[in-house]
Amino acid sequence: MPHVLVFDSGIGGTSVLSHLKLAMPMVQYTYVMDNELLPYGLQSQETIKSRLTALLSWIEQSDKQVDVIVIACNTASTYALETARQHTPIPIVGVVPAIKPAAETSQKKHIGLLATPATSKNTYTANLISAFASECQVDIYHSTALVNIAEHYYWCKELQVELLQAELKRLNICNELDRLVLGCTHFPIIKSHLQDYFTHRVELVDSGAAIARRVQHLLSSKLIKCKSLEARLVHWYATASDKFEAAVGVKPLKLES
Ligand code: DGL
Repeated sequence: MPHVLVFDSGIGGTSVLSHLKLAMPMVQYTYVMDNELLPYGLQSQETIKSRLTALLSWIEQSDKQVDVIVIACNTASTYALETARQHTPIPIVGVVPAIKPAAETSQKKHIGLLATPATSKNTYTANLISAFASECQVDIYHSTALVNIAEHYYWCKELQVELLQAELKRLNICNELDRLVLGCTHFPIIKSHLQDYFTHRVELVDSGAAIARRVQHLLSSKLIKCKSLEARLVHWYATASDKFEAAVGVKPLKLES
């Protein structure tokens, strides 16, 4: 049975997990959230690197037989993908802002990036923009409030409409752009509500479907051998599990950083 471990600071990675489950329902998924340090967008690069290193040690020690690790967090991927890859032989798929498809499909050659403070200002993102969007005007926006709104929406099944409106007003996203990259995996969780806000034509672009295709490709030989089509229950772990244990049976995890 192929086994994929999905990691994020919180529930943002479930937006990627949904694509993975749709493409590969028969796979065993483990979902790990480092919500003790949420939001990652306000953490330093050093902190995030050491949390990922600790995660990889835990995977190794727990003998989980993971086939692919998906770092379903733009912040962690843009800050620490290379470091993480040096610490494990397991293939790692990172989730980074979908600048390339947004730039390729933009009619106006004017796109936006909406991400966490960390992702919006780091070198990895700057390199992505110069490699794939040099022909475009790229407006960059960052928000931590949207991460918190998405967390609340997921756990409490309630949209904080006033907070959302206030944050979108503060962001003041330019109405000339025609593609807005959702460069944080938390944002697709509230995608339909974000879309409702835009009266002008703007397409919201995220990496979820592309990540599922990449993982499917990496697992192709194992998937062929896998006969069962029955979906498995996701195993959940959290570094601050006390908050949500009752809701989804989240197991505690300690990351020594
Ligand atoms: N979901 C994460 C991302 O894609 C991080 C959100 C946060 O913890 O700040 O960047």
